[in-house]
Amino acid sequence: MDRRSAAHHLTRTALALAGFVLASCGGQQSALDSAGIQSERLESLWWLFFYVLGTIYLIVMAVLVVALIRRRRADSATPPEIAPNEGRERRMGNTIKAAVVVSAIILFTFMVISFRTGRAINTLSQAASPVSIKITGNQWWWDVQYEDINPSQNIHTANELHLPAGRPIKVELQSNDVIHSFWLPNMHGKKDLIPNYPTTFFFEADKPGIYWGQCAEFCGYEHAKMRFLVVVQTPDEFDAWVAAARQAPPPPTDPAAVRGQQIFLTSVCTQCHTVQGTTAAATVGPNLTHVASRQYIAAGSLQNTREHLASWITDPQKIKPGIRMPMNTYSDDDLNALVAYLETLK
Ligand code: CUA
Repeated sequence: MDRRSAAHHLTRTALALAGFVLASCGGQQSALDSAGIQSERLESLWWLFFYVLGTIYLIVMAVLVVALIRRRRADSATPPEIAPNEGRERRMGNTIKAAVVVSAIILFTFMVISFRTGRAINTLSQAASPVSIKITGNQWWWDVQYEDINPSQNIHTANELHLPAGRPIKVELQSNDVIHSFWLPNMHGKKDLIPNYPTTFFFEADKPGIYWGQCAEFCGYEHAKMRFLVVVQTPDEFDAWVAAARQAPPPPTDPAAVRGQQIFLTSVCTQCHTVQGTTAAATVGPNLTHVASRQYIAAGSLQNTREHLASWITDPQKIKPGIRMPMNTYSDDDLNALVAYLETLK
């Protein structure tokens, strides 16, 4: 490759890379596309750091380049410099002093601004009547409980949060096994879920839409497949969702689904899962009461379709090796009936 085409190649690679980096700066799982008042604060802080530190970096690099270009071209014939040039020494000393003072001022300013951002983020904790959600981390899925003053009105679900826009959300985090981290970048910074050490934090979602969250602390084999979907709705839509989620699903009427329910209730499924209104009441795995209304299964790993449900039930170890759900062998008829039943759980 000649020099020109090498330079051309380098430019193209740099452009492609810049495009890739910039493209990842937005969307449903990005701290730079804030959808809540906390993340707005964090985003402004991030951009402030980016511009100031980016400018300083460019200045330092420019000074370095100038210094390299101006370096003396000494050779063996050049007489050595023995006496220091006092004027130049003084100028250099002053430049360094000035640079130290400017750095100190910038760092101090950043410290004050970061501190103020941290305080502003915490002011929501005084909010009245927040939506209260208890989230428990499990290897590798999220247990979600909406708590009501009247416990019979609690909603139990998994891996999918519904939030009303513009209302404060109180989240209580805990873990059933190892340390996880709840990260919903469009709304808030990361928060750890630590076994035996519940933590509470507040945030608010302002823009209706779909967002993705992710476990942000390495927690074992399927850490990357420990995602959660967040549906931010208008207050009316949210109230409708709450009303529906509080009802146990009606018993199936379709013959296949009726048979599917019998299979479900007499199989190993009931050793791990709950379906409200039936005898299945175990809490080892995700609550399936309204599984058909969720958009994804397997903690955000698969879209919730018939085919995916069937392959998940048959061989979950192929999709998420290492999870606690075992393989299940059913005849095609039984599997179809089981999926038909699960699809009634809306
Ligand atoms: Cu849970 Cu990583």
